[in-house]
Amino acid sequence: MEEQIIIKTAEQIEGVRRSSKLAGNTLKTISEYVKEGVSTEYLDNIIEQYMRDNGAIPATLGYNGYPKSSCISLNDVICHGIPDEKTILREGDILNIDVTCILDGYYGDTSTMFSIGDISDEAANLIEHTEHAMYLGIDQVRPGNCFGNIGYVIGKFAKSKKYGVVYEFCGHGIGMDFHEAPQVEHLSARNSGAIMQSGMIFTIEPMINLGKSRAKIDKRDGWTARTIDGKLSAQFEHTILVTDAGYEILTDVGMYDIFK
Ligand code: MF3
Ligand code: CO
Ligand code: CO
Repeated sequence: MEEQIIIKTAEQIEGVRRSSKLAGNTLKTISEYVKEGVSTEYLDNIIEQYMRDNGAIPATLGYNGYPKSSCISLNDVICHGIPDEKTILREGDILNIDVTCILDGYYGDTSTMFSIGDISDEAANLIEHTEHAMYLGIDQVRPGNCFGNIGYVIGKFAKSKKYGVVYEFCGHGIGMDFHEAPQVEHLSARNSGAIMQSGMIFTIEPMINLGKSRAKIDKRDGWTARTIDGKLSAQFEHTILVTDAGYEILTDVGMYDIFK
């Protein structure tokens, strides 16, 4: 039997709301430090310090052996890029920073894109379209709609732009655990999947590629997922609560949605 999708209580919702807000504020804080010449390790250290200063723990640290407090994924890296001191940001780079907090036992997960100096038109378009795809998915969130319609609208839009939609990584339920049921697909059939109900909390986090959709995992570190053709990839992520009226974007703190 498939794992149940948890309907959160008012108290749990408030806990995830606070953790999600902190995750959003972590991205807002780090945006000041994302500049040419800095290493991804440097950014990771600031992220860890900011979370701890605010009473939280970075959820990725030690998660299934993952060694760092954030994922920082440059250019052809789709997701799970491991921060390190040798990866230095350069003019023309695009990158995703993905942070997850545990605050009082509750998880909040969000990511956004950054760019360094002048980037190509196709890179800028990919970023803008990927954020748009995420918001199309978010607009499907309301009680009574099915999860498949999130992936349906994202997939349809991405295909209209001739992009590859990553299907090997998904969004996920979240709250009392990092990854809860269900898996939230970014490419799915219309009117398929479980039905959304008020009180469910999950992420929508499409990864969209300029070329082919397939990912390959780095054999040496076991984590870094890259596009198979070396072309660029972009991703945005929010943690979303289903409300009676539709949705609340729990990780939205404004400001860093620069491409919206
Ligand atoms: N934050 C990622 C997500 O959105 C998960 C990272 S797991 C890690 O689901 F182990 F790679 F950090
Ligand atoms: Co994430
Ligand atoms: Co996530």
